[in-house]
Amino acid sequence: MKIALIGYGKMGQTIERIAKDRGHEIVSIIDIKNLEDFNSAAFKSADVAIEFTRPDVVLSNVRKCFSVGVRVVSGTTGWKAADLKDEVEKNGYTLFWSSNYSLGVNAFIALNKYLAKIMNQLDAYTPSMTETHHVHKLDAPSGTAITLAEGIIENVDRVNGWTLTPDLQKDKMPISSIRRHEVPGIHTICYDSEDDYIEITHSARSRRGLALGAVLAAEFTCGKKGFLGMDDMLKF
Ligand SMILES: NC(=O)c1ccc[n+]([C@@H]2O[C@H](COP(=O)([O-])OP(=O)(O)OC[C@H]3O[C@@H](n4cnc5c(N)ncnc54)[C@H](O)[C@@H]3O)[C@@H](O)[C@H]2O)c1
Repeated sequence: MKIALIGYGKMGQTIERIAKDRGHEIVSIIDIKNLEDFNSAAFKSADVAIEFTRPDVVLSNVRKCFSVGVRVVSGTTGWKAADLKDEVEKNGYTLFWSSNYSLGVNAFIALNKYLAKIMNQLDAYTPSMTETHHVHKLDAPSGTAITLAEGIIENVDRVNGWTLTPDLQKDKMPISSIRRHEVPGIHTICYDSEDDYIEITHSARSRRGLALGAVLAAEFTCGKKGFLGMDDMLKF
């Protein structure tokens, strides 16, 4: 498969190594110094572009891919990819987006939904979440924390949203965002009661699992159309 990389930072470089190990060809690498390459023949020849940049540029990057007919897998967080669903489906574009490409995290997301369905019946337990990431991360809470929160909001009737400022919004589930050293990502969900608490945690050892998942998503996306996500690929 011919892959273009958009964003050659921590994720872009890890994805390059894994994609090459899996026998793919990197035909173009675009970062801030060569944005004109979106119009190059090499970029247009890609079967799929993998985009890991910044929340303030992702929309423009994705639309540049659409305009030259290149399918996109994006992992950039801190924007609402779902807002593009209608545009993608109406025009026959292809966008795969996930807030987290790790297979382990996606198992954790499925477990979170299952636990939430059970805890909906147990009013004595109050849910909360903590997410810890490296100090370079721009958005808070993490995109994964928002996905996990949505799994709880959809399934626990007494939770009406999430908040980073629980003192001000008592009906919302509190999320604490901690930024520490080079932590790749830890998410903990806790259901607390007077008598006991239940806690589930996913802890990433490195970025490798995230990058592998993005390459697997690119392989899945090749030849497909529409607005795609991890649920389409993994079907847990
Ligand atoms: N979905 C996931 O599984 C997942 C995993 C890790 C990181 N992320 C997200 O991916 C994004 C990138 O993470 P990272 O750790 O690689 O960050 P990074 O800062 O290491 O890399 C970002 C790169 O994008 C480049 N860039 C900036 N503007 C650009 C533009 N207009 N066009 C092309 N390139 C541009 C920067 O120069 C930099 O090289 C962040 O939003 C992060 O939260 C998502």
